[in-house]
Order: sequence, then structure tokens, then C-alpha cells
Amino acid sequence: MEKGEMVYEGKAKKVFRTGDPNLFIVSYKDDATAFNGAKKGTIRGKGQINNRVTNHLMRLLESKGIPTHFVRELSDTDTLVKKVSIVPLEVIVRNIAAGSLSKRLGLGEGEKLAFPVLEYCYKNDELGDPLVNEYHIRALGLAGREDLELIADYSFKINSILGEYLESVHISLIDFKLEFGKLPSGDLVLADEISPDTCRFWDTRTGEKLDKDRFRRDMGGVEDAYGEVQRRLLGE
Ligand code: TMP
Ligand code: ASP
Repeated sequence: MEKGEMVYEGKAKKVFRTGDPNLFIVSYKDDATAFNGAKKGTIRGKGQINNRVTNHLMRLLESKGIPTHFVRELSDTDTLVKKVSIVPLEVIVRNIAAGSLSKRLGLGEGEKLAFPVLEYCYKNDELGDPLVNEYHIRALGLAGREDLELIADYSFKINSILGEYLESVHISLIDFKLEFGKLPSGDLVLADEISPDTCRFWDTRTGEKLDKDRFRRDMGGVEDAYGEVQRRLLGE
């Protein structure tokens, strides 16, 4: 499958047309940003790692009955995906308090939540992806009631599947962000990526951070942490 015209360039990925109007190629970059693009950098090898880790987890989720946009891995950095129209929401699932939740509610990072918490942010860079609830989403027409119910249902299932799997390689799934899209048929599927850029992964035994917080917080050892996630998940 050949790359055609580039239709979109985001902070961490490019998207290209293909000869098939229903299929796109996603190409992962080493570029990293944080704080809505205010902090910029490069994480060597990230494109390859995020592509391969995402595809590995998408395949796992598909095998457990979660529909995704994934079609086929084309190379270390490129993947064929189904064309979707993205629901403009960042769907966040949290198991342990960290990041913006800790700040907002004054919870210590690492405090266990009594049960998983679902949050939605409106995907809008100009507004800085503000937190919204179901009422905002429905009132603004960002997603309908049925889609929203399915998004919540899939998100909690994904949390269980990924949490259990990651535990087996001694990674604690603290929180993560998902994006969903609609196929031309109207079916809702999981889209975007699931990687150390979009999840908080802590080593279960040492508590060491194995994710993008090392970049956001200038902790060093970013490449090693991403490489460690790839090794644990893909055995390489
Ligand atoms: P937060 O604690 O900063 O709100 O982040 C929650 C989760 O969402 C965390 O796993 C990182 C992920 N995330 C993204 O994937 N993209 C973003 O732009 C932000 C702010 C967070
Ligand atoms: N990548 C996001 C941005 O630059 C933020 C983040 O992941 O922290 O907006």
C-alpha cells in the first residue's frame, strides 16, 4: 500500500491517503510535545515504539471483542488503518490518582481510586482540551447518547483487558487516554494510539515511571523507559 497525499499532520503523527478511499496510513514521528505544544522535543525511537506498541495492544483488544481502526502494520513506523471521523473527545480512564486529577482534587499521586473513573475532554487545541461532562457533550452535539454509552462501555472493558495484560509484565496501568471514531457505516471503533505517550505506566515493583511524564517533567531516561515498555510487551 503506497502513501498518497498527506491529509493531516499532528504533534506525533502524520496521516496519508492511500489508493483506497476507506483506508489511511498513519506514520508515527519521534516528535514530542507537552502542555498543548508549549514544550517541544524529540524522543529518539519513539515513532517506532509507539507504532509497534499501539498495534500490539490494538490486536489484543480486537481479539477480546473491541472493534478498532487497525488494519495492518506496514513498517516500523507506518500502519494501515480504516478511515474514521474522529469523535472530538479525549476519553480518559483512571485507576490511580495522578497528573491533572491529582492537581484538581488534591489527591496524592499514587492514591488508589475506589473504582475506575471516566473523564472526557473536548478535543480543541485553542481551548486547551477542556474537561466536559455528558451534558456538555450532548448539548454541544459532540456525541450522541448511544455513542456515548458505547464509548463508556468500551472504555471500561479496555481498562480491564489492558490492566490485566500489563500486570502480567509488571506494569501498572495508572491512567490512559482513548479516542474513538465512526466508520462510514456509522459503527464506532477505537482509533488513535495506545502508547507511553497516551498512558501512565508505572513499574509495578519499583514504581518507576515508564511513560511520557519523564519528558513532561524533565526526569531524563525517556528513551530507556519507552524501550523498556516495548521490551516487556513485544519481548525485544
Ligand atoms: P492528565 O492527568 O494530564 O489529565 O492525563 C491523563 C492521561 O491522558 C495520561 O495517561 C496522559 C494522557 N494524555 C494524553 O494522551 N494526551 C494529552 O494531551 C494529555 C493532557 C494527557
Ligand atoms: N501531547 C500533548 C500536547 O502537546 C500533551 C501531553 O501529552 O501532555 O498537547
